[in-house]
Amino acid sequence: MADLQALREEAESAIASAGSAAELEELRVRYLGRKAELTQTLRGIGELAPEERGPVGKAANAVRVALEAQLTQRTQELEASELDSRLAADRIDVTLPGDPPSPAGHLHIVSQTRREMEDIFIGLGFNVVEGPEVEFDHYNFTTLNIPPNHPARALQDTFYLSPDVVLRTHTSPMQTRSMEVKAPPIYIVVPGRVYRRDSDASHTPMFHQLEGLAVDESITLADLRGVLLEFARAMFGPEREVRLRSGYFPFTEPSVEVDISCFNCGGSGWIGSQRDSLCKGSGWIEILGSGMVDPNVYGFVSEMGYDPEKVSGFAFGMGIDRIAMLKYGIPDLRLMFENDLRFLEQF
Ligand code: DAH
Repeated sequence: MADLQALREEAESAIASAGSAAELEELRVRYLGRKAELTQTLRGIGELAPEERGPVGKAANAVRVALEAQLTQRTQELEASELDSRLAADRIDVTLPGDPPSPAGHLHIVSQTRREMEDIFIGLGFNVVEGPEVEFDHYNFTTLNIPPNHPARALQDTFYLSPDVVLRTHTSPMQTRSMEVKAPPIYIVVPGRVYRRDSDASHTPMFHQLEGLAVDESITLADLRGVLLEFARAMFGPEREVRLRSGYFPFTEPSVEVDISCFNCGGSGWIGSQRDSLCKGSGWIEILGSGMVDPNVYGFVSEMGYDPEKVSGFAFGMGIDRIAMLKYGIPDLRLMFENDLRFLEQF
């Protein structure tokens, strides 16, 4: 019995001071394994005197149970702390650059151009807003003075999602949407995707536009001209001029189409003795449609204070992709959306 007690104390202090799960496993074999003293004792109980068998067996068994429990507990503790230190040592900082660092790439040419355009208009006091690409017929057409069954609806090859829901064919629906929630004055530009059933070198079913709207007291066509001249010069160089030609849009009156002087030939139409192919020798390049907001459009937002007797404004809309094509000399719009790196990396 004294031996058992001594064995128990020795084993307990060894287990308590073990420093690893492997060491504990060694101790388990040493004190509880097949060849361990305790195991031998338990096996040899039958050889003891009959009156000793009970007490010795009981005591030996108690030591075994106690050591097993202590081993299990210590093993769990050690495994947990080994896991903790392994996690701490193996920690990877996923925010570090790769090795070697992989190239980060850059924004798509359309995004670059959109941001450059936004910056110019922000500098002129406009706010940037965005609107839904899935749009009600009501905003895409009706509030832009294009009533149901009006032939102007046929001018745009529209994707219909249901009889009164479309993929917006232009960013103009944000004119009314914005005025519905903001009383005058309002100065906004609206960049975004638009959709039309159209596909060739200068048309894709999805493309990008940037709409502009300015409504305030006593805004005139001269303000429109000034803003667009500023834009043309910031985008295409300080020598640019703009030219307004009369046009037609249902939601502006009067409507104008705006050209900028050609930056390729300087506006002469000639490069040396050759006609400039960019402006087809005219010296001018059409960049957008615009005009003074039609009073009928204000009629849809009159409760917000858009009274055509008190306020006036201009609107314009241009293709972001088209501006990028002009600026970088890109011959085919479809290149923009094929995502061929050999093309994209050039910009
Ligand atoms: N929404 C027209 C289109 O996509 C472009 C446009 C013309 C926008 C005149 C305007 C505008 O705001 O005043 O063809």
